[in-house]
Amino acid sequence: MAERIEGPPTTRRRVLLRRRPEGLLADDDVEVVTEAVPELADGEALLDNEVIGIDASVRSWLGDGSGYLPPVELGEVVRCSTVGRVVASRCDRYGMGDIVTTLGGWEDSSVIRDDFFSTWVSEPDPDYDPEAFLALYGSTGCTAYIGMMEVGKVTGDDTVVVSAAAGATGSAAAQIAKIAGARVIGIAGGEEKCRWLTEEVGLDGAIDHRHDDVAQKLRELAPKRVDLFFDNVGGELLDTVLGRLALHARVVLCGHIASYLDDADQPAVGPSNYVQLIQQRATMTGFLAFDEVPRFPEIGERLRAWHTAGDIVVRTQRFEGLERGVDALNAMFTGSNIGKIVIIP
Ligand SMILES: NC(=O)c1ccc[n+]([C@@H]2O[C@H](COP(=O)([O-])OP(=O)(O)OC[C@H]3O[C@@H](n4cnc5c(N)ncnc54)[C@H](OP(=O)(O)O)[C@@H]3O)[C@@H](O)[C@H]2O)c1
Repeated sequence: MAERIEGPPTTRRRVLLRRRPEGLLADDDVEVVTEAVPELADGEALLDNEVIGIDASVRSWLGDGSGYLPPVELGEVVRCSTVGRVVASRCDRYGMGDIVTTLGGWEDSSVIRDDFFSTWVSEPDPDYDPEAFLALYGSTGCTAYIGMMEVGKVTGDDTVVVSAAAGATGSAAAQIAKIAGARVIGIAGGEEKCRWLTEEVGLDGAIDHRHDDVAQKLRELAPKRVDLFFDNVGGELLDTVLGRLALHARVVLCGHIASYLDDADQPAVGPSNYVQLIQQRATMTGFLAFDEVPRFPEIGERLRAWHTAGDIVVRTQRFEGLERGVDALNAMFTGSNIGKIVIIP
């Protein structure tokens, strides 16, 4: 019997933005459509998306406020990171079967261009794990690495606190600090997350911000105060940790998810406890990993080596089917995720 040869798909399913969400994403803010795959032009390739990554920033791109990338326009595909294989190519940069990580969309296949800045490619690799790619070797892990190692300059003498520590970026950042030899305390919502952080991830302590008195727990778990705070949350939590800084502490501002669902017209509430920066001669630095995209492949290889050696645990939470995108994105804000949220399209 003749072998069945599969060609590239002729149709694809995509999730388009129909209305700007207010608060959590509602089912009818987006629509799943099926459309013909466009003819590839010179310089383009077609990617069969194996995994779609959900990042907190996806929600911010659905509003019409300003950010480091323009908002997703109504009628456009929801933007997010993807990883997949090249199934058709009209350019030299992408060969058939190459694994490509890019800023794609909620869609089962993406057309990518050879001049797109935020795309990187690996040769076909039998050991490739697409979920680990999205959770650690790609932009999420690179954000954690740059924030913890290069902005925070973590050392083995530090007591480090990480907020949203059971999430994708936070769990990677906390483990990178452990590799550097630091004492690491994670802040997360709920008992299950805190148990995971101490029993499986190997952190030195965990604080449940939904049930614990965070200031009191910080006094117990960080008796020598906090040298480095990697903050993903902002708001009240940031203020509380500022109150426990050590002399010459560094505060690394990675994100402020506590205010991502707020009205875009209302400016985010700033820290009221910033005077602590003066008293402790501390610094507070924001960063965007996006500025370092050309270095992602090199940093990703380092993260992959740590993962392969068993020094970093990767956990993903899967949502099957593009229709689950709404639940997947909202899980970040209800805090029901542990590790990286991925959609299998
Ligand atoms: N600077 C950069 O270049 C860069 C790049 C990528 C991501 N980021 C930032 O990194 C952060 C984490 O993103 P991620 O994609 O990895 O998401 P994630 O941490 O996997 O998921 C978000 C987590 O945030 C916590 N959270 C949500 N609302 C909260 C609130 N009101 N108070 C306290 N905690 C809250 C929830 O955990 P709990 O249940 O534990 O509260 C939730 O699981 C975000 O702030 C994102 O913007 C920054």
